[in-house]
Amino acid sequence: MSIALIILAAGQGTRMNSDLPKVLHKLAGAPLLWHALKTGTQIGADKTVIVVGHGGDLVEKSAVAFDPNVEIVWQNEQNGTGHAVQQAASALDGFDGDAVILYGDTPFIQPETLETMLAARKDGAAITVLGFNTDIPGGYGRLITDGVSLDAIVEAKDATDEQRAVTLCNSGVICAPAPLLFDLLSGLDTDNASGELYLTDIVALARERDLPCRAIICDESETLGVNSRVDLAAAEAAFQTRARALAMENGVTMAAPETVYFSYDTTLGRDVNIEPNVYFGPGVTVENTAEIRAFSHLEGCHISTGCIVGPYARLRPGAELAGGVKIGNFVEIKAAQIETGAKVNHLTYVGDARVGEGTNIGAGTIFCNYDGVNKHHTDIGKRVFIGSNSALVAPITIADDAFIATGTVVTENVDTGDMAIARPRQINKKGLGKKLMDRLRAAKNK
Ligand code: UD1
Ligand code: MG
Repeated sequence: MSIALIILAAGQGTRMNSDLPKVLHKLAGAPLLWHALKTGTQIGADKTVIVVGHGGDLVEKSAVAFDPNVEIVWQNEQNGTGHAVQQAASALDGFDGDAVILYGDTPFIQPETLETMLAARKDGAAITVLGFNTDIPGGYGRLITDGVSLDAIVEAKDATDEQRAVTLCNSGVICAPAPLLFDLLSGLDTDNASGELYLTDIVALARERDLPCRAIICDESETLGVNSRVDLAAAEAAFQTRARALAMENGVTMAAPETVYFSYDTTLGRDVNIEPNVYFGPGVTVENTAEIRAFSHLEGCHISTGCIVGPYARLRPGAELAGGVKIGNFVEIKAAQIETGAKVNHLTYVGDARVGEGTNIGAGTIFCNYDGVNKHHTDIGKRVFIGSNSALVAPITIADDAFIATGTVVTENVDTGDMAIARPRQINKKGLGKKLMDRLRAAKNK
């Protein structure tokens, strides 16, 4: 059965108090919308349609960055969730698989939950709705069920007192065959408390046709939606708690997991050790047994088996560490391949470079990659020794087994096995040190 994902993302998100569309606010380093999109890829959705309205151009840009094949449809006036889904009709014309409707601001729906809904569809339910039990049903739609059959979803505003007392609520996630969905949607009206087209009314319409509908129940935490910055912070906390637990289950050691921050796509191997206060931005992969020491900030980088990174290291996008590499304190690496066993241990900037196998970069080395207009590349071979406080002015090549003396400003390529030294010669003046100090002390004590 093919699957089409319909993501509703036209709402304004007034309570975010922001110029940015709500679904573009970030959770774990990715726009809220991407979390829904990721869930879609996890269930193998064949097609994705996003309904946009407020800030739609920006939403489209972000969606296309995640997946260039998404289809964007516009809902220029927000006349309700039913009206929103209607906008996807032409994009899904001729599609006869299942449609799964998600909200762009509800990031925690698990792929397994959607699989359960799809399985219930295969078992004969025409429509499956994801519900949850809650102590505070508030403004949620209530699921009216006899225990087996789902008969209607009644919005809180339209509910009788008896219906309002129901604590089984609608998450908003609905699954139905696309042709049936659009057929039922064409029967909606605005005869309700909000004067809107309610997506939720399709259940009662399906029951009028004697079509079986089912509620699938998930945990309330899965249905958490973001409406305000307070919600966003709560969602972030929930994400991190889950990500930390999952990392530990998968064999990662963390002495203080509550101080480690992950992104939506952080990938960690087994027996990785993460010391306290480490931040993983988007796009980080860490292989088995690597060690990330305290206060390191990592994004867009790959760390191979046996590497030791930090404390206080910064790995920026494009930092690729091969096996057994050591990156020490106050070292920044950007767009650079650091090959097997190389060491960059202290106070160094490496940008736009390759550092060959077994090479040692001394303390305080700067890769001068930028001339004020363009970036240039530095290529360093194997087993090279770069003395402390050297400046390597790119573009530059330093071949295998070369030796750069401390304090050298390297502006010319260095051949295999050669030594480069570029600094004024030292002059020692007999007895002048003590003489100078004596003169200074005398002046001070006058
Ligand atoms: C909706 C459900 C309710 C459910 C609740 C769960 C309906 C009628 N009600 O109510 O049963 O318990 O979600 O959170 O479906 N949107 C659009 N276009 C619109 C209206 C909404 O794209 O015209 C999008 C919003 O951006 C949002 C989602 O649909 O992502 C839900 O809309 P919202 O207004 O929050 O619906 P609720 O009234 O909360
Ligand atoms: Mg809502």
